[in-house]
Amino acid sequence: KKRLTVRDIRRAKGKTPIVSLTAYTAPIAKLLDPHVDLILVGDSLGMVIYGYETTVPVTLEMMIRHTEAVVRASKRALVVTDLPFGTYQESPEQAFRTSVRVLQEAGAQAVKIEGGVEMAPTIRFLVERGIPVLGHIGLVPQSVNAIGGFVTQGRGTGAAKLLADAEAVTEAGAFAVVIEGTIEEVAAEITAKIAIPTIGIGASVACDGQVLVNDDMLGLFSDFTPKFVKRYADLSGTIASAVEAYADDVRNRRFPGPEHVTARGPAG
Ligand code: KIV
Ligand code: NA
Repeated sequence: KKRLTVRDIRRAKGKTPIVSLTAYTAPIAKLLDPHVDLILVGDSLGMVIYGYETTVPVTLEMMIRHTEAVVRASKRALVVTDLPFGTYQESPEQAFRTSVRVLQEAGAQAVKIEGGVEMAPTIRFLVERGIPVLGHIGLVPQSVNAIGGFVTQGRGTGAAKLLADAEAVTEAGAFAVVIEGTIEEVAAEITAKIAIPTIGIGASVACDGQVLVNDDMLGLFSDFTPKFVKRYADLSGTIASAVEAYADDVRNRRFPGPEHVTARGPAG
């Protein structure tokens, strides 16, 4: 079975909602793959896997290693990898060199970069050279230090800026765009106006598709849960009870039981 392509994603606009989740490891990628259209190896891994407070410390080497694992363990979904902070903002040429590594060494099919109007020339540069780009506008976490926190975007005069960003990214040739952390009316207006699919996160049901951080929606990452996350499972709770039961069994010599003994026989 062949993987979905950026063309399949683009063509879904106005037809079927695009389903996306993040994955960073082989076992999770394998579980998601039959059910999602697009797997994002997000730099959110800095927070949910590595325990950083933001995505700023994430390196290209991390993204490449995790992308390799996700690509190996999936066969159907389109795999898109985030270019981390500092590996593409300097120039289109820097973005190109970084993207080549992500496609060539790690096997992703496309890259995602944060930014609207200011990143449009970079997006165009990449797309014209054979690198599909997923845009990302609205709340752009790599700029958290400049924004001053994880703040909702697109309020008041911010609405016109966000629409301009969406149009610039579309015009530059992105195959779709993630819209994060904005108000429903703005997401609806952008989705109606641009020709490429919008994939929302905290941006309402008005978008053409949805993405969530896997660890958030499974209840695996529990440091904090944003309001827009729906929890489909409580894996933290499941893991905590399992580990507690194991510890209790070991301390009370109930594990290993006779059925877990590897081998028996005379010693020596
Ligand atoms: O890093 C990430 O997981 C993302 C999604 C939340 C869109 O960029
Ligand atoms: Na990201």
